[in-house]
Amino acid sequence: MTGVAISRTQQFRIDARRLAARIETLGGVGAIAGGGVCRLALSDEDRAGRDLVVGWMRELGLTVAIDAIGNVVGVRQGLESGPPVMAGSHIDTVSTGGRYDGNLGVLAGLEVVRTLNEAGMVTRRPLAVAFFTNEEGARFSPDMMGSLVFVGGLPLDAALATVGIDGASVGDCLQRIGYAGTARCGNTPVHAYVELHIEQGPVLDADGFTIGAVEGVQGISWTEFTVGGIANHAGTTPMRLRHDAGYVACAIASHARAIAREVGGDQVATAGAVALSPNLVNVIPFKAVITVDLRNTDEAMLQAAEHRLHAYAAEVAAAEGVTLSHRTLARFEPVAFDPAVVNLVEETARALGHSVRRMPSGAGHDAQMLARICPAAMIFVPSADGISHNVQEFTSLPDLEAGANVLLQVLLKLAA
Ligand code: GLV
Ligand code: MN
Ligand code: MN
Repeated sequence: MTGVAISRTQQFRIDARRLAARIETLGGVGAIAGGGVCRLALSDEDRAGRDLVVGWMRELGLTVAIDAIGNVVGVRQGLESGPPVMAGSHIDTVSTGGRYDGNLGVLAGLEVVRTLNEAGMVTRRPLAVAFFTNEEGARFSPDMMGSLVFVGGLPLDAALATVGIDGASVGDCLQRIGYAGTARCGNTPVHAYVELHIEQGPVLDADGFTIGAVEGVQGISWTEFTVGGIANHAGTTPMRLRHDAGYVACAIASHARAIAREVGGDQVATAGAVALSPNLVNVIPFKAVITVDLRNTDEAMLQAAEHRLHAYAAEVAAAEGVTLSHRTLARFEPVAFDPAVVNLVEETARALGHSVRRMPSGAGHDAQMLARICPAAMIFVPSADGISHNVQEFTSLPDLEAGANVLLQVLLKLAA
């Protein structure tokens, strides 16, 4: 930073009401009952949300680039050229999402830009605000797809060919919504990346902390099991003669939970999607497709849980006389964020008078992909009652303000 005394930049503060107004406006796009949002990646609602945010970026004077996987990066020039300091997150949601997951990080980045514009402040390095395609992975696997392609971790062609839960491909959907951009992905240098996000878990709220300095993200393993049985009459078929695909799927789900309870600690397990065919009350299912999401902060323990689950699935399928296949939808090892940036988040939050807790992230985030190419870290703010991926997701205005001011000051230091 030149031309502006450091002491003056330390006084800069975002306007929380403006930030909240943007969260409210974006939350109105794809709004669903109960105050929530459904903007599945690359849907019409996602397009409308994108158009709104891109418009805001242009109003703020950012130079907007859209890459071939639909990631959007708005750059604010610095006194010097070179890789930008980037703030970002995502604006897609799960189909029962809230207004804050992802959206906060993007809109707080815009509020930082607005604050600097009004102060006439130009940073030494450029600043960028980004939103990445399909972070949620609810429609297309894997999650964090856009940021993974951005850092060169997934070939563009493979990402574009991915078919979602409704049979549509990423490439076709990008074309349809007009976000198959021309900027190349996979070779954009970034000086540092900071993502403000709601915690999405109970820790900060329950323990009374305002800011989480996120040290890393736990490992994620998503598997889809497909079970093939034989349809038959529910009333006439003796139990010993059944080849019940539905039963086997349910047994896998139940065992995943048993593994997590037994392993304890950070191990979690979720069977979030199940589809039975023909899905009728009086027909033994001939097909079942079930997903299992396993996560752990420890890679070896995560692998052990995966092995146990696969061994059990094979055993129960053999005993029932059904076929079993599986495919991996997503697999990411635990990620540690850059210690210097984590420390910067913690020190900055304390200097602003906030209570801070160092913690891991239970959810996946674009920051874990950016960490492959630059120093990266995250700032968490509390989620009321730890509720997320739910229309009732809520973070209070003072907490939004605190997080956005930490983001502002961290970006200023990294860009100086
Ligand atoms: C992304 O929201 C995840 O599933 O962690
Ligand atoms: Mn998110
Ligand atoms: Mn999410």
